[in-house]
This record gives sequence, structure tokens and C-alpha cells, in this order.
Amino acid sequence: RRLLGTAGAAGAAALVAGGAAGAAGAEAVREGPDPLSSVGSAAVPFHGPHQSGILQPAQAHAHLAAFDLMPTADRKAAAALMRRWSDATADMMDGRTPQGDELGVALDAGPSSLTITFGFGRTFFDRTGLAAKRPDALEPLPAFTADALDPKRSEGDLWVQIGADDTLVTFHALRMLQKLAAGTARMRWQMNGFNRTPGATEQPMTGRNLMGQIDGTNNPKQSDANFNTRIFVPDDRNGADGWMAGGSYAVVRRIRMLLDTWDNLSLDQQEKVIGRRKSDGAPLSGGQETTRADLNKVGSDGALAIAGDAHIRVASPATNRGAAMLRRAFNYHDGFRDDGAPDAGLLFVAWQADPLKGFTPVQRKLDRGDGLSRFLRHESSGLFAVPGGCERGEYVGQRLLE
Ligand code: HEM
Repeated sequence: RRLLGTAGAAGAAALVAGGAAGAAGAEAVREGPDPLSSVGSAAVPFHGPHQSGILQPAQAHAHLAAFDLMPTADRKAAAALMRRWSDATADMMDGRTPQGDELGVALDAGPSSLTITFGFGRTFFDRTGLAAKRPDALEPLPAFTADALDPKRSEGDLWVQIGADDTLVTFHALRMLQKLAAGTARMRWQMNGFNRTPGATEQPMTGRNLMGQIDGTNNPKQSDANFNTRIFVPDDRNGADGWMAGGSYAVVRRIRMLLDTWDNLSLDQQEKVIGRRKSDGAPLSGGQETTRADLNKVGSDGALAIAGDAHIRVASPATNRGAAMLRRAFNYHDGFRDDGAPDAGLLFVAWQADPLKGFTPVQRKLDRGDGLSRFLRHESSGLFAVPGGCERGEYVGQRLLE
């Protein structure tokens, strides 16, 4: 039985190529070492209109980290850091060893779908004398009643999202960035996340979160006519945030799941909280995972098939004047807490062209009356301006910093 990977387009292409080569070369004697598996050899391009780590499928392993600039670091120092980080990232994403890298941690692995994404927090603009260029979209998020935020693990001057399908590759990338930041920026917080390993399921499928639900089904699709305008800042933007063309805003929330309470619910109760079946992610209005949810359907018992407070009803663009975001999350599990409960949940990362039209109105509504919120605690929060991608010879954020 041959298991197919879920490494996304690049991985699938590598699998097909590998299959074809295998068939054609069945008689040939292979010389030299075996080629990397499809998981290791899959590479995502660094250069392009958008940074990597937004449109690619979420990888199996991730580090999210924020850095604060040292008191002595000015705009020039920040620009030099972004140049160093960009150059090393271009190398690592292509499977090359960055200049001066003697860490050796990822030496035998291919790029393994590595993506590294950089963002600027609200405070970055004050520290670098660029307050006049700070976008309005970086206004602090409002307080929500389900918030129990730890400021030490929230916000930050610079944000880094590292994802890859190999843990040593993600660790190596993080260490490399940390070394390159020495003297300019210090790590403020770090979180580690995971998703299913490519190839673990028979068919590529939407991932599951730690409540066991299939999560990510009704995300905006790149084939949607309004995808780009919902997720990316338009190219023709004038004014203070013109440098954000092709960029996106990331809302990062560490959301702990009250798993002991959740696990006490019956399957039926759990499915009602979300509005979808746990086994295959189909909406409770019928059909399969990809069937559009019918929010008006009434069952034979006279009740709404998808309950009034079901998460997918309260969060749906249909009940939020079209507000939408691209959710690209990672699970986390950091052992257990003093009360014995698992310290586990979702590193929720939502991408949108404007948080005031994406995350904020939806979270306001979820906070008021969503069946799922009772089982969640938002423990940290960050909002970051993630500039567009860069071309060869440029660095990420150059249009802001040069
Ligand atoms: C949908 C789980 C937090 C926004 C879903 C679905 C699940 C889920 C299982 C259905 C499948 C899908 O379409 O992806 C969770 C969990 C959360 C969480 C476990 C926290 C740990 C949030 C937050 C927001 C959000 C904080 C936004 C503020 C959405 C949206 C949908 C959705 C927009 C799609 C609704 C639709 O149009 O069908 N979520 N969610 N979720 N969630 Fe969440």
C-alpha cells in the first residue's frame, strides 16, 4: 500500500516526478546516494510578490517567535538585520547552508518545505523613528472577555514564523535567525507548534486540531474571486502604508483549549458546538466536508440543524457582513499545568488585508455568544504587519526601511 504525502503542491509534484523516474529507470542501476524523499526535497520559493508561509499548506512543525530591538538599535541596524535574515532565509529555503553557518543541525536534510515569514509589530515603528509610516491597521486589538493575555508572551517589535516538515530544519532556522540578530534584537517569546506529518494519512486531507476536529475546511480559497483583496494589501495603496503592497496582517493568538472539560462532552454535544461532524468534517446540515453549510436548514425535530451558537454559524462570513480571514494554525502542547490539565491548544494565525475587516469583528461576535468560546482561553496575542515579498537582491521590508 502506497501512502500519499500531504506536502502540498511542491510535495505532490515531487511525488509524481519520483514515480515517473522510478518507472522509467526500473532497469537502471542507481549510482550514488539515494535521493531525498519527497518530504525533504520539497522547496518553496523565497522571492515573489508575497512572503512565504501564508499561501502554502501549514507544515508539520513550526516556531513562532517575537524579537525586540535592543535600545541601541536604530532604523539602520534594523535594515541590516532584515538584510541578514533575508539572505540566510533565501539560502535555507533553497536547501543551501547560509554563509558563516557552522551549526550543522540541518546538514543532512533538504529544505523540507521550509518557509520563514517576517512581520513588524506596533512598537517597531517607534523604536526605528518610523511612526509616520505605521499603518492604522496596527492599532491595538480591542480587549475581549475571553482574554487572559500574558503581556510577556504577546506582541513584540519583530515577528518570525518558521514552518517546515522536519523538526531539525525548523530548529536550525530559528537558531540561525537568533544568531544573526545578536547585538541588534533579543528574543521576546517563542512558541512551538505542529500539524500532521505529510504521508501519515492515506490521502491528503485537511488537518485536525487537538479537540479532534477537522480544522481549516471553509477557509477562503485562492480560486475565490475576492481572495486577493481579502488577504493581501493592494498594490495601488497610497499613503503611510504604501510600503505594505502585497503584504498582509497576521493576528497571532495562543488559544488554550480546556480539554478536560471538552472531553467530558458527548460526541453529539461536541458536534453541535462546532456545527460539523467530527469524523469527516461534514456540516450538520448534510453532505460531505466540502458541502456548503446550510445555515437555514431545520431538522425533523423543528430545531436548526446548525445550532444558533454553533462556531461555524457565528464565525461565518455570511453572518459577519463578509468578514473573512485565512486561518493557518498550528497545534501546541507544552506539557501540563499546575492543575494537571494539559497546556495545549491552537497557535491561531489569521491572515487578512485588514484586521478591522477580518479578525476583529469576527472575534467580537465569537466572544459574545459562540458555543466554542466556553472551552477556550486566549492566553497571548500579537498583531503584525507582514510586508510583501521581495525580489532577488532585495530584503524583506526594504520599501519601509531603506
Ligand atoms: C471554522 C475550530 C478559533 C474563525 C472552524 C471549524 C473548526 C474551528 C473545527 C470548522 C472547520 C473549518 O471551516 O475550518 C476552532 C478552534 C478554535 C477556533 C478549535 C480555537 C482554539 C477561531 C477564532 C476565529 C475563528 C479565534 C476568528 C476570530 C473561524 C472561521 C471559520 C471557522 C471564520 C469558518 C466558518 C465558516 O465559514 O464555515 N473553526 N476555531 N475560529 N473558524 Fe474557528
